Amino acid sequence: MSLYDVVEPGLVTCAEPRYRIAEIRAADPLGADAVLAAVPGINRDADTAALTVALRALVPDLDRVAGWSVVEALAGMRDLGVLLGSLKRHGTEPVAAVPEVLPVLEELGRRTDMVPRDTVHHYTTWNPLGRRRRSYTGSETEAHLQDAVRMVFPGLVAALGTCGELARLEPYDPGFACALDRTAQHVQSMVDSIDFTVAHVAPEFFARTLRPYFEGIDVAGREYLGPAAAQVPLWLVDLTLWQSDRSDPRYDAFLDESVRYSLPSWRAFHAAHRGGVSAVGKLTAALSWESGHRTPPALTAAAVSLTRVLRLLKTFRARHLGIARKAYHDDLRLYETGSGGAPVALLRSVLDLTRDNENLVRRATVPPRTPAA
Ligand code: HEM
Repeated sequence: MSLYDVVEPGLVTCAEPRYRIAEIRAADPLGADAVLAAVPGINRDADTAALTVALRALVPDLDRVAGWSVVEALAGMRDLGVLLGSLKRHGTEPVAAVPEVLPVLEELGRRTDMVPRDTVHHYTTWNPLGRRRRSYTGSETEAHLQDAVRMVFPGLVAALGTCGELARLEPYDPGFACALDRTAQHVQSMVDSIDFTVAHVAPEFFARTLRPYFEGIDVAGREYLGPAAAQVPLWLVDLTLWQSDRSDPRYDAFLDESVRYSLPSWRAFHAAHRGGVSAVGKLTAALSWESGHRTPPALTAAAVSLTRVLRLLKTFRARHLGIARKAYHDDLRLYETGSGGAPVALLRSVLDLTRDNENLVRRATVPPRTPAA
């Protein structure tokens, strides 16, 4: 049992098939368990011929795919994905090597309303545990990285609810601070996740062994990124807290690219809230109308709660930047950019934006100095 399973049960009661995690993990619609168990060994031997044969053997007929439920389609994409990333790691474009996989990827993308390749959700949350775990290397470190990412999803699903609530409230409403406090509880998982990663994933192993499996692949002339942790939708929290009206063009461009790798309901959340007034925007406007000496208690509470969530985001980002810098250090790195398509410099600017917003809220609550008599 992983830490993730301790917090998962709330999700399994949900009707959304993408949250039926236990069923997706259990599904093996391609009968791929045995083949995928052999993949780490094949990857060690860099045996592209064996990977090509395995992918060709697993590709299902479109008629069969048509009979699959969404749960089965997600599991099918997950399993093909392991072979796509493995082939690419050894320098072979998988769709060029096995062209019959193209219509299947496109159909699975349509059926699941997601991109036509596997994503971080397939690789982590929807990946079985134990003997059936899908893995490129079979190493304990890879399993730790998968588990680090798995453990943030329950919190982020819950944050989708509290952030949606927050966007509907004004800072004078006591519910505003409450929604922020609950969001903070959910975001804590990001800090736990990065601490777990720092403790269990050596930057050298990520840089030299794992990172090559997350390269983009060509699907019908368009590049689709591998199952990168950068696809973890922390952006939905940023969007509501500050990003919708206090961002910068580089982070906006990164998000526009990342959003398409997420679940349909999360993409809908992004479309509904982008360009709206953020919590920082609403609160600083409200505070500017009040004199520092008689700030309404609800606004003070909102500022304290907002500062707390922004501090958690900052803590995650500072620790994350530390490990990313090591993994992408000149002496170690094999690639210029992260598996999410952006350089480490982006992480520095998102950290600065998070910190600037935290400072803005904190300063807005400081009472003006009384002039000396
Ligand atoms: C060895 C471990 C890791 C390294 C080297 C690393 C590196 C990076 C890099 C270079 C980026 C920039 C975008 C890109 O990938 O192209 C990025 C983005 C990101 N990563 Fe990681 N990462 C690691 C682990 C994690 C984990 C465990 C999580 C969370 C569960 C995570 C969440 C994110 C998020 C949310 C972003 C988007 C930028 C942000 O919101 O600050 N990463 N990562």
